[in-house]
Amino acid sequence: MHIEVFGDQKRASQRIVDLLTRQLRAYPYSVLGLATGATVIPIYREIIERIRREQLNLAPVRTFNLDEYMGLQDHDPHSFHAFMQRHLFYPAHLTPDQTFFPFPEFSQDPSGYDRLIEQHGGIDWQLLGIGHNGHIGFNEPGTAFDSETHVVKLTENTRKANRHWFDGDWHHVPEQALTMGLKTIMRSRTIVLAAFGASKSAVLAKAVYGLVCPELPASILQHHPRVYIICDQEAGSLLRPSSSFHSPDFPSQFDV
Ligand code: GLP
Repeated sequence: MHIEVFGDQKRASQRIVDLLTRQLRAYPYSVLGLATGATVIPIYREIIERIRREQLNLAPVRTFNLDEYMGLQDHDPHSFHAFMQRHLFYPAHLTPDQTFFPFPEFSQDPSGYDRLIEQHGGIDWQLLGIGHNGHIGFNEPGTAFDSETHVVKLTENTRKANRHWFDGDWHHVPEQALTMGLKTIMRSRTIVLAAFGASKSAVLAKAVYGLVCPELPASILQHHPRVYIICDQEAGSLLRPSSSFHSPDFPSQFDV
């Protein structure tokens, strides 16, 4: 794992978009795996900024989102469809024929989503956030490492963690979601995991240095050959070497 700790979210987001830019320069028709959540908002903002400055072109890409709540219509403002439309697709001029989600199309045949990804050549560049319990996508603790796209029952903790997207009431957060599995995610050629804020520091350290086990889904990433962990100083505070955090202008970089 290659780890880079930045002074703040903005610098970390810029670095992630630098990595994306490099990917798209080499392979303009890349297949991107995309995430939702508070973490990716500054990253998508940076992408939009670079598109406006004509430093980045997403027109040829196809995108596959990690997950979607079950039962929400595309146009429901709480859906991940709506999140992506608002924060990336609309401002980046991405159209429905190049952007894919597991729900509703694959609710009866979840592995069809994996097949569709493979038909497009597989995911070249996967962006991930991390949940406080170590989930990636919606792969909750206990998910099998060989899982492909599947239906999940969300834990109460995850529903509570996401309640701010549902007017603060966790009972309004759907009970189920359709998510890429851990094997789906591990098939990506490059993985970039972003983590911001002190609340992610403990789980990030466990994912990087802890035992690789289904109880901490993100720990599987230790077995992937090409993972970048890009975080801010707060999320990276328990990652070694912490002594190099003296300057917010220069990232601390190391491999584990
Ligand atoms: C959600 C998403 C994940 C995301 C995680 C962290 O539940 N399904 O893909 O990485 O939570 O979200 P946030 O970035 O808001 O902390």
